[in-house]
Amino acid sequence: MTHSDFLVIGSGIAGLTFALKAAKHGSVALVTKRQGMDSSTAWAQGGVACVTAEEDSFDLHVADTLDAGAGLCDEDVVRTIVSEGPDRIQELIGLGVAFDQHEDEGKQVLSLGREGGHSKRRILHSRDTTGREIEEKLLAAARAEPNITFHEHHYAIDLITTAKLGLPSENRCVGIYALDEKAGVVESFRSDRVILATGGCGKVYLYTSNPDIATGDGVAMAWRAGVMISNMEFIQFHPTVLYHPQVKSFLISEALRGEGGVLLGSDDQPFMAKYDERKDLAPRDIVARAIDSEMKRTGSRCVFLDMRHHTKEYLEDRFPNIYQTCLQHGIDPAKEPIPVVPAAHYQCGGVRTDIHGATSLQGLYAIGEVACTGLHGANRLASNSLLEGAVLAHRAAAHVVSALPLGRSNIEITIPEWQSGDAEDVDELVVIYHNWDEIRRLMWDYVSIVRTDKRLQRAATRLRNLKQEVHEFYWHFKITADLLELRNLVDVAAVIVESARRRQESRGLHYTLDHPEKSARVEDTLLSRF
Ligand code: SIN
Repeated sequence: MTHSDFLVIGSGIAGLTFALKAAKHGSVALVTKRQGMDSSTAWAQGGVACVTAEEDSFDLHVADTLDAGAGLCDEDVVRTIVSEGPDRIQELIGLGVAFDQHEDEGKQVLSLGREGGHSKRRILHSRDTTGREIEEKLLAAARAEPNITFHEHHYAIDLITTAKLGLPSENRCVGIYALDEKAGVVESFRSDRVILATGGCGKVYLYTSNPDIATGDGVAMAWRAGVMISNMEFIQFHPTVLYHPQVKSFLISEALRGEGGVLLGSDDQPFMAKYDERKDLAPRDIVARAIDSEMKRTGSRCVFLDMRHHTKEYLEDRFPNIYQTCLQHGIDPAKEPIPVVPAAHYQCGGVRTDIHGATSLQGLYAIGEVACTGLHGANRLASNSLLEGAVLAHRAAAHVVSALPLGRSNIEITIPEWQSGDAEDVDELVVIYHNWDEIRRLMWDYVSIVRTDKRLQRAATRLRNLKQEVHEFYWHFKITADLLELRNLVDVAAVIVESARRRQESRGLHYTLDHPEKSARVEDTLLSRF
């Protein structure tokens, strides 16, 4: 059993920032299921939304966030995160993060990008690989910190609570079981301060901009432990992911539309003016629905993003990753429009937390994409998520050391060893892969951009059967990472569907043909297993 003062699960911006701050107070075990760099943060292209320009203001950033969130954001939470952003940006710069700059009247100033729903230029970026830049600098700092121990290739299985252990105290989280994938054994990690920073669940859908690790592990574990989950019906579909038979999950950043990119239909004509006066820079829910509607109307497999108003030199310099990737696949964005389709991108709901990241289970915090703080409401404003990850990590670290002081650890709690019983090796991997594909396809067909009661009902019925099958595997066979991911996917898919069925209106990212209007009642969806 590994014992630590803090136990962080996940190695993106939220997990690493928290670990660095907590390490000043005690020992940190950082558990991550692949290598440190394998996080959604490292894939973020656009950047970090933050008020830094003189002509911008916190009020404007708050107003844009509330507008995108379609009435469901918590305004106090939005204001707190927006106004604490500049301090967190300074810390990132202090760690060596190189945001792009340019010269203005003899001085170096930050270069600011624009994205959909933002009334001002306020996106700090590092070319089109902002997330990679942030991740590399945070990871280097965390690896150099003696109080942080990395446990890579460790797959968190389940939260351990005092209730599960049958202890008489008030229920709280006291650790996790995790599969050491290389050794093939299950280890226990004991801590009174457990931080979920496991990211989102894009892999629950057939098409996604997310890396393979995004299998909803944090929400699934929290759900199974009876923790409150909120607003999981709000899955954001990014309007523009590259459409190419050999390329999986490659994002064409919204920053391209911020630099004048125009969406064209299969007839080569711009179409966004028909849907919103902000045209290509309308909030994402509107743009993704417009593309979906154009594709259905014309029967085309994709739409196109036109960047031909820029020179090759500009595109190579400002968007080197996107430009080179397109070129490698036979598309020259300086000469031809880029084929794009919408794909699942961001989980706006998640484990319900307060403004310190504290969840409904004592000792458990959730930060970053896995959490639902109230910032995103029914639709996240572009590039608000890295900001939220950094701010909430800072706040959670400050809160946890005062709410759960270090000297008071109940280290005497012993976690029983994992029992495999007479579980056998999985005999037919094909069954796991088949179920995996079935979940992702049914979620895409029945629970994506446009929903109906009937589609949701069908999805719920199929998921019920799949869930039973997957849970039988789980109990009968020795666990593997694939099996654990499948179990998490099916649980998260069922939570999304149940949340969507409860929302009998259309709001933000949840659009249903059966209830096309917004309801006058503005409510979060709250789900808990117990
Ligand atoms: C993008 O670059 O378009 C993604 C930004 C985001 O999802 O916040």
